[in-house]
Amino acid sequence: MDPNAVKLRGFTLALVLGIASSAILPDNLAVVATPKGNGAWLYVETQQQIDLWKQQITNYNTLAGPQRAIRVLYVYSMDFDITYQSPVIGKLTEIAAKSFRSIPYVTHVGAIIDGILSGSANLNSLTSAKVKAFADSYARVYCNSSALDGIQLDLEPYSATYKNSTLTFVRRLSQNLRDNSTCAKPKFLAFFVGPRQADADLYDALGPNGYAVISGYDLDSPKAGYPETPKTYQTNLLTNVKVVLTSAATSKYGKFSIGLPFAASACEFQTGISTTNPAKTIPGYPMYDANNLTNSYIPNAFAVLNQTLGAGYEKVGNPFLGVSVWAWVSRDVVVSGYRHVPKLPFDTSGMMSYMAKTMPCKNTV
Ligand SMILES: *[C@@H]1O[C@H](CO)[C@@H](O)[C@H](O)[C@H]1NC(C)=O
Ligand SMILES: *[C@@H]1O[C@H](CO)[C@@H](O)[C@H](O)[C@H]1NC(C)=O
Ligand SMILES: *[C@@H]1O[C@H](CO)[C@@H](O)[C@H](O)[C@H]1NC(C)=O
Ligand SMILES: *[C@@H]1O[C@H](CO)[C@@H](O)[C@H](O)[C@H]1NC(C)=O
Ligand SMILES: *[C@@H]1O[C@H](CO)[C@@H](O)[C@H](O)[C@H]1NC(C)=O
Repeated sequence: MDPNAVKLRGFTLALVLGIASSAILPDNLAVVATPKGNGAWLYVETQQQIDLWKQQITNYNTLAGPQRAIRVLYVYSMDFDITYQSPVIGKLTEIAAKSFRSIPYVTHVGAIIDGILSGSANLNSLTSAKVKAFADSYARVYCNSSALDGIQLDLEPYSATYKNSTLTFVRRLSQNLRDNSTCAKPKFLAFFVGPRQADADLYDALGPNGYAVISGYDLDSPKAGYPETPKTYQTNLLTNVKVVLTSAATSKYGKFSIGLPFAASACEFQTGISTTNPAKTIPGYPMYDANNLTNSYIPNAFAVLNQTLGAGYEKVGNPFLGVSVWAWVSRDVVVSGYRHVPKLPFDTSGMMSYMAKTMPCKNTV
């Protein structure tokens, strides 16, 4: 028996005892935990970033108003590691979450849990009883935090190899988050995933209090280290959003948010700057350019949403919950020795006022 098994025995016991008093909420009560509205990722590493980024989102929300505001904030919490005896939320995560809750129109703050399934988060190496025990321990810790309304998992790759064990974890964690013996108030479970990977099994495991956060960036790259053109980006996004709509409709749950590159990603960027010689650059394309909308990424992405979700792309609701803003990040996105800019969403001139007028809307306008 490996050392993990000894550590986990306690969790397994709690799991067995837990079943008797479990009260999983019916779908109509659990569904209220799912946030509706635009979201954003924030990978906070310092108090200074908490203050600065809070100010930026406050400025945006004040300008945008309640309908187009960024309502859901995902704050980095921890990396999933199967050797941990018990998860730790992170002190800065809770400080940030508490602080961000007072931003106007923010309704939900969730914790980001990252994990590499092919590495330290390899759920395949555990028995299914242990996978469930892990889900129980995560649920206990995150339900206990009054600063957090849910969890966004980024467990990669969600591929055939890891699917079964990942779904066992997701199903169990989501159930726990809507079980009133674990969570006094239900919390949401979001799962970050590629557009072609989000399948009915995933939506079903996420359940009524869950949804997929679909990557609407890094869909394709012309050549390692080089930018996708906005036109090809638009073509690829269109094909992929159609796939998402079709597969989401095969689950009775099937809700999703779409992440878009408001700041540089690996394949969508304005400039790549050599990390060893800043004079060496790879030119890309603007995330937004008021004078050349069709040659910039975000206007093209909004055009795709308009085309696929209808003029009603402006109306946030089922199955579309809004866009997720990539991203407020501490670290640079670096590909092949080049760091990508713009680093933050509002580093692009005019982006804030453009978003305030065109982001998907909570009600039709
Ligand atoms: C629950 O939260 C309280 C107060 O923040 C803390 O003291 C306690 O250790 C937490 N319990 C668990 C199981 O995380
Ligand atoms: C998939 O996971 C379940 C536990 O949820 C387990 O009972 C089953 O044996 C697994 N199937 C495969 C093919 O590994
Ligand atoms: C949990 O839900 C069950 C069924 O809806 C209900 O009977 C019970 O009172 C609830 N418990 C708490 C602590 O809210
Ligand atoms: C817009 O960008 C494209 C591609 O770079 C360029 O060919 C075109 O001249 C630009 N249009 C304007 C009005 O700047
Ligand atoms: C959405 O599409 C309609 C036509 O279907 C068009 O009139 C409208 O301007 C478009 N809105 C945006 C923001 O692209």
